[in-house]
Amino acid sequence: MPDSWPKRESTTSFQAVSAIDIDAVRAETPGAAEVVHLNNAGAALPPNPVLMAEIDYLEAEARMGGYEVAASRAEDLNRVYDAGALLLGCKPSELAFTQSASLAWHTALSVVPLKAGDRVLATTAEYVANVYGLIQLQRRGVEVELIPDDPDGRASVEAVASMLDERVKLVCATHIPTGGGLVNPVTEIGRLVDETGALYLVDATQSVGQMPLAVDELACDLLVLTGRKFLRGPRGTGLLYVRSGLDLLDPPVMDGRSAAWVGDWDYELSAGAQRYETFETNLAAKVGLGVAIEYALRIGLDSIAKRIDELAEILRARLSAQPLVKLAELGGEQSAIVTFYVDGRSTDAVAAALRAWGINTSVVQPQPPAFDPTGRTRHGLIRASVHYYNTAEEIDDLIAALY
Ligand SMILES: Cc1ncc(COP(=O)(O)O)c(C=O)c1O
Repeated sequence: MPDSWPKRESTTSFQAVSAIDIDAVRAETPGAAEVVHLNNAGAALPPNPVLMAEIDYLEAEARMGGYEVAASRAEDLNRVYDAGALLLGCKPSELAFTQSASLAWHTALSVVPLKAGDRVLATTAEYVANVYGLIQLQRRGVEVELIPDDPDGRASVEAVASMLDERVKLVCATHIPTGGGLVNPVTEIGRLVDETGALYLVDATQSVGQMPLAVDELACDLLVLTGRKFLRGPRGTGLLYVRSGLDLLDPPVMDGRSAAWVGDWDYELSAGAQRYETFETNLAAKVGLGVAIEYALRIGLDSIAKRIDELAEILRARLSAQPLVKLAELGGEQSAIVTFYVDGRSTDAVAAALRAWGINTSVVQPQPPAFDPTGRTRHGLIRASVHYYNTAEEIDDLIAALY
């Protein structure tokens, strides 16, 4: 691994904040009339343009043949790269379309050259799939160390500064965990990692689509996201950002999309991040993700963040006012995710009762102690996660259904 990787180029641009027309976005969201959807951290309700783009593509496949549609719709299939590049402030060629954030994360992990004795740092906020990858590294003799949390529960930037040395080859940070609303200081960590020879892998699965993100601000080399959560895209979609110019290992899974077969026993990798893709994939979903990202960009990530902030604040305030409800949040800056439990009632029973009222939330399962140092998840938690298309009235519905 070289001492320093080539430097990044900035392509960031953010939009101005403007009020979102909530009636209009709800009218474009078929599910908004059916359910109170507070499970956006699980999978958000897709808007009509996403749904229609997918259906249209699937119908074309059925009528024309899958290969023939793909050949005739290159522009539609490229939307995900162009829109993704605008979303993250990178080049289209730095993005690979994947089937999930986990697949993207494991691909990223497997192309970073690591050997026994190297050190890898990771936040306690890592998702279970990421933890499995870290355990696999440990079993290969790589030293994996968790970054301690500050007293407020966020990854300690000070600790990162003291842990970094020339043996640290990779730092993994999850921006917003799956089981809570805290926002990790990924930019501050990135600045520190950028001064070293280590690579920086950010899991933006829960933050993308709910706030502006830019890879040059994060100073990350690798970033993963999923389509179905705050981006409101189709299930089975994700993106892997790989900064260009990195000297990484060959992809773990390869086919005709990742490389050209140039001799009996030779292949040449495809240019850019396309080498991390496979030929066979759900192309209707790929088009749908492109449309979902364009939709989010049209509304504006700053506007989305502001609206989510207001709704999440209302949700936290109303929950806090309930005598039996205990909020279980850590950290200073908060996101769309709000976790809580109801004293004396099983979390599963509360979630099921809410579901019976047409209110979608989800349950955070207890986490092992190293990844939950405060023990806040030990009895399980209800996770309610708002998006910009939710309303204060829907939050009232949740509160009313709790008792
Ligand atoms: C923080 C975080 N990272 C990664 C993932 C995995 O995403 P996917 O299911 O798309 O693999 C999740 C899913 O909930 C998550 O919350």
